[in-house]
Amino acid sequence: MMNWNELEFEFNATGGENLRRYYKNGVWSEAEYTTSEYIPVHMCSACLNYGLQAFEGIKAFRGVDGKVRIFRPYANAVRMAAGARKLCLPMVSNDEFVEACVDIVRRNIEFLPPYESQAALYLRPVLFGTSPRLTVRPSSEAGFCLFATPVGPYFKDGIRPINAIVNRNQDRSAPLGTGDVKVGGNYASSMLSYEEAHEMGYSAVLYTESVEHRYIEECGAANFIAIKGDRYITPKSPSILPSITNDSLMQLAEDKGFTVEQRPVDVAELPTFEECGACGTGAIITPLGSVFDPESGEKIHYGDEVGAVLLDLYKSLQDIQYGRVPDIHNWCVEVE
Ligand SMILES: Cc1ncc(COP(=O)(O)O)c(C=O)c1O
Repeated sequence: MMNWNELEFEFNATGGENLRRYYKNGVWSEAEYTTSEYIPVHMCSACLNYGLQAFEGIKAFRGVDGKVRIFRPYANAVRMAAGARKLCLPMVSNDEFVEACVDIVRRNIEFLPPYESQAALYLRPVLFGTSPRLTVRPSSEAGFCLFATPVGPYFKDGIRPINAIVNRNQDRSAPLGTGDVKVGGNYASSMLSYEEAHEMGYSAVLYTESVEHRYIEECGAANFIAIKGDRYITPKSPSILPSITNDSLMQLAEDKGFTVEQRPVDVAELPTFEECGACGTGAIITPLGSVFDPESGEKIHYGDEVGAVLLDLYKSLQDIQYGRVPDIHNWCVEVE
């Protein structure tokens, strides 16, 4: 029996089933299920040697009404397909992807945390090139794995602001690179800056674009968002991952009468914002308490408490995920 209230936001082993499919000779195999947490891959495989790998992160929730909802899995399917195209990997169809999510939630239903815990079942689809490759070229064979793990709420004691540092030394992605798709290489290139920021006492890195290092890109593995009066502002750039949470928050902000601005955001604008945050599936919104810019030596303070607008948006998105309000945008897929 799981102790739902003790769950961290990490891989929590359950012994539950995960799904595997393999692509060979131009066709995907039928789904196989296993409780093994390991995947045998060739030591010379394209995924291990050349990083031919894409992944997704999705959450399923137990609602206040007892219903089970998966949040926007179709959007994740579309995003993984975009990643597969960039890496020249084959991809299951969007419908098959969503069906696999529903299937794996059903098979792991006993590991779906109860409503009261505010925890969720995290789904992780992974696509990887399996052909042995010594020359650098696309993989003609691939694997697709989908597993589920229960995760605790990001903020156990309520939503708390974190401190971020602006980074201009290491780029996570390039304008014509792979920053706009969810592939492992983008995360590999962010490790050193993450480590350095942590050593300096900061919880998050605010990346700038790799041409001028002037415009904000992303905040760690999350999109950057800011509030200024009745405006919801978020950076636009070809190397930002299109966050499904951000897309949803933009819609909710618009529903609430905010003007949404998706445009290049200069680091110099930071002092003009009233509230700033990072958004993604894990935490929905992580407010930024402060941002330090090592170039100017300036630290901009946004406060030790989450701002009213970001808190309201956070609650509105959670209300939909937990079935507390009608899902007017048809975002959730219900699991019967
Ligand atoms: C680099 C990056 N940006 C943004 C996000 C947020 O995306 P989403 O809201 O779809 O989880 C993620 C996490 O998935 C990410 O890894």
